[in-house]
Amino acid sequence: MSDILTKLTYQTFAQGKKYFSLAHRTLSSRLLNLINPTVTQLQTQSLTPEVIQQLQQKLDQIIEIDWQDAEKGIYPESLLFDDLWLDFWRYYPLILQDLPTVRERRFQKRYQEFAPEIETEGYPQYYRQNFHYQTDGYLSDLSANLYDLQVELLFSGTADAMRRRILAPLKEGLKAFGAVSPRQIRVLDVACGTGRTLKMIRASLPSASLFGVDLSPAYLRKANQLLAKNPGELPQLIQANSEELPYVNNYFHGVSCVFSFHELPSTVRQRVIEECFRVTQPGGVLVICDSIQAIDYPELTPMMENFSIMFHEPYYKHYINDNFVERLEKAGFVDIATENHFVSKYWIAQKPQ
Ligand SMILES: C[S@@+](CC[C@H](N)C(=O)[O-])C[C@H]1O[C@@H](n2cnc3c(N)ncnc32)[C@H](O)[C@@H]1O
Repeated sequence: MSDILTKLTYQTFAQGKKYFSLAHRTLSSRLLNLINPTVTQLQTQSLTPEVIQQLQQKLDQIIEIDWQDAEKGIYPESLLFDDLWLDFWRYYPLILQDLPTVRERRFQKRYQEFAPEIETEGYPQYYRQNFHYQTDGYLSDLSANLYDLQVELLFSGTADAMRRRILAPLKEGLKAFGAVSPRQIRVLDVACGTGRTLKMIRASLPSASLFGVDLSPAYLRKANQLLAKNPGELPQLIQANSEELPYVNNYFHGVSCVFSFHELPSTVRQRVIEECFRVTQPGGVLVICDSIQAIDYPELTPMMENFSIMFHEPYYKHYINDNFVERLEKAGFVDIATENHFVSKYWIAQKPQ
C-alpha cells in the first residue's frame, strides 16, 4: 500500500512539474509580448499533433522507468522527490526578471556578452559564449543559481529523471569490480556543473569515492554547496578542462558525463572521449548522457532544429548527426550500447581488460 501511495505521489509530482513548465512557457511569452510587442518571433518549425503526442508518451515512459529503477533499489525513492523545486521560490522570480534580457540577446544574436567583472581569459574560445543566451554564460553565481531550474523548465520537469538514467548502467558496469571494496571504487563525473549528477551517484553508491571536474568556478561553488548538505564523504571537485583531465591513467572504475558533449566542437568531443578512456581502469565503464540525435527519431528533427535556433547552441546541429559509437571505438572503448529516454540518449562503453 505504501508503495502504491509513493508511486502515486511521484507521478503527481512529475506531472505537476510538467504542467508548471507548460504554464511557464505561456506566461513568459505573454509577459515578453506585454513588455515589448514589437519584437518579431523567431522562425521555428511547428510540431505536428502526432509528434506532440509521441513526446507526451516518451515523457510518461521516463516517469515510469524512473519509478521502476527506484523500486529495484538502484537508487533510493527519496531521490525522486529531490528538493530542487524548493529552490523554485528563490530563483523563479529571478528567471522571470532575466527573461527580457535573454530575449534581447537572442534577437540581436549577442552570444559573447559577459558582465565586466567576469574574468573570461584563460577559458577555451568555444566556452566563452552565452549558451542558451543565458546571462554570463557559465561564468557567474547568478547563472549557476538559475541553471538547474531553467533546465527543468526546458525539459518539462524531467531533467533529473534523464540524469538518473545513467545510474543503472553505471552500477551494472561497476559489477566488474565486485572484488574491490565499495569504498575503493572511484567514479568521476566530467563537466559536473552544479553537482546534480554527483548527488544522484552519491545516493546510489553511498560509499564510493566521487570526483567532479568542470571549467566553471561558479558552478563548482554551487555544486559544493549542494553536495556538502549530503551525508557521506564530500566528492572532490576540481576546476579543470575535460580535454586534459588532471588524473593519472587508469584511475577510475566508472566515468560519467551528462549534457555536455552537445556544447563542444567536434574535435574537442573526441579529445574528451580520449581523456575519459585514459583515466578509466581496464574493465571500467563510461556512461554518457546527452540529447537525442536525428538518427534516433527522425520525426523529432524539427524539434531539434528549433532548439538550435531558439537557444544559442552552436555545436548542436553537428552533434545531432555525430557518430559517437565510431568516436568511442576510435578511443579504444568496446561493447558500446545505446539507449534513449524521453529526449536524451545514452552511450555505455567499456574499457577492455
Ligand atoms: C549543459 S551544462 C551540463 C552540466 C551538468 N553535467 C548537468 O547535468 O547539468 C555543461 C557544463 O559543461 C561545462 N563545460 C563545458 N566545457 C567544458 C570543458 N571543456 N571542461 C570542463 N567543463 C566544461 C560547463 O561549465 C557546464 O557546467
